[in-house]
Amino acid sequence: MKDLNGKVIIVTGGTSGIGEACVRHFVECGAKVVAASIQREEGAKLVEELGADSVHFVFTDVSDETSVVSMVAETVSVFGKIDSVHCNAGVWAKGMVTDFNDADWEKVMGVNVKGVFWTAKHAIPEIEKNATGEKGSEQGVFLVTTSVAAQIGFPAHALYCASKAALEALIRCLATDHAGKIRAVGISPGTIDTPMLAATCEGWDAPVEELYAQVEQKIPVRRLGQPLDIAKTAAFLLSRDSEYINGTIVTLDGGTMALPPW
Ligand SMILES: NC(=O)c1ccc[n+]([C@@H]2O[C@H](COP(=O)([O-])OP(=O)(O)OC[C@H]3O[C@@H](n4cnc5c(N)ncnc54)[C@H](O)[C@@H]3O)[C@@H](O)[C@H]2O)c1
Repeated sequence: MKDLNGKVIIVTGGTSGIGEACVRHFVECGAKVVAASIQREEGAKLVEELGADSVHFVFTDVSDETSVVSMVAETVSVFGKIDSVHCNAGVWAKGMVTDFNDADWEKVMGVNVKGVFWTAKHAIPEIEKNATGEKGSEQGVFLVTTSVAAQIGFPAHALYCASKAALEALIRCLATDHAGKIRAVGISPGTIDTPMLAATCEGWDAPVEELYAQVEQKIPVRRLGQPLDIAKTAAFLLSRDSEYINGTIVTLDGGTMALPPW
């Protein structure tokens, strides 16, 4: 288990699936965590279970800049500083470009891209206050959950794939613009067993369990990823053990991207 003792970390989308597992794991690693999302009830439950000393929930709509400003201010007011952020909130939409309208674009790009953009704009100046920028000193980490969808033309996923690809470019820009004080890193999950994955199975002509079993046979490690798989690697990327990883994307897909294209 990585040592994140005393670190203050914001996790957006921290009340479900991958984000929730990250919040739980970062707390186990000794961090103080702000879970930010649009799920008030789940947020309250998490705080009750893990304790208000370790977790604080902030209702945040990451697509709304004002809401992101409040998230950052509340984190500083509750825990005194921000060491790192894990931008993980995301939404999914099914369709080809011909299926979408402007509202769909706003929803998916708003959460998946604008949400990360506003979080970078407002959280990075706070993180930079704690980083000296001196040679060999510890840097803050701006971690973003991307997706293998940034690299694959998934059928009927045009908007989602485009949103995740945009994040890869943003990560590279953050790494160069904030060099010395911030490391910007992407974590790219393959197929992870979360409520979002279950939602993508709706409308198919087989039960979810059957669809999962079929997918598992296609993944080289022969199982779906679990949220904790991502959380453990995220903790490593937020720790000093990964201090030379910067401006790049770490893929966690059980070997899916290594498959030949036939
Ligand atoms: N599950 C997978 O197979 C998979 C694969 C690749 C990438 N991802 C990415 O991982 C991340 C987490 O997904 P998940 O599978 O855990 O899904 P999930 O649906 O379980 O969790 C999504 C989280 O985002 C939050 N959220 C949604 N809209 C928001 C908004 N406007 N403001 C703030 N929070 C908001 C939700 O409240 C929830 O906590 C997403 O970015 C997703 O794109 C998931």
